[in-house]
Amino acid sequence: MMNQEEIINSQTSADVHNMLADSGYSEKAIGYYLEKPYMGTIPEADQISQMVGSCGDTMGVYLKVKQGIITDARYEVLGCPGAIASAMAAVDLIKGKSLEYAREIDDNDIFKVLEHIPAKKHHCIQLAVKTLRKAIDEYEMTNMKQ
Ligand code: FES
Repeated sequence: MMNQEEIINSQTSADVHNMLADSGYSEKAIGYYLEKPYMGTIPEADQISQMVGSCGDTMGVYLKVKQGIITDARYEVLGCPGAIASAMAAVDLIKGKSLEYAREIDDNDIFKVLEHIPAKKHHCIQLAVKTLRKAIDEYEMTNMKQ
């Protein structure tokens, strides 16, 4: 039996689900948004970078890097469902991959993972990509100096 709070939560997430589905988000994108599998920070991250999008929303990316491989990544997102889903999809694309590979990830790759989000949300995908590229650039700059 669900308690009162669980009933309210499940109603809320069903409402959110329906609202997003109606506005053009795929099931996959909605799942990323509701579950937020890679949302948060990494203690002792090797790189932390932030970016503010043209809409004013903010993303931070945390990378753990070992011998040129991204062993772990997290995003902190103060933004819309499209931004959150894009960031989560980005982590699925780059985890366990090289920095060079991750730098080549583009909007289209993320869109393919998400399957569909509303056209007016494509700049949210760009924010996830730009934040990741900034983090890779800053990581490489810091580590070249050493
Ligand atoms: Fe700002 Fe989506 S509206 S990132």
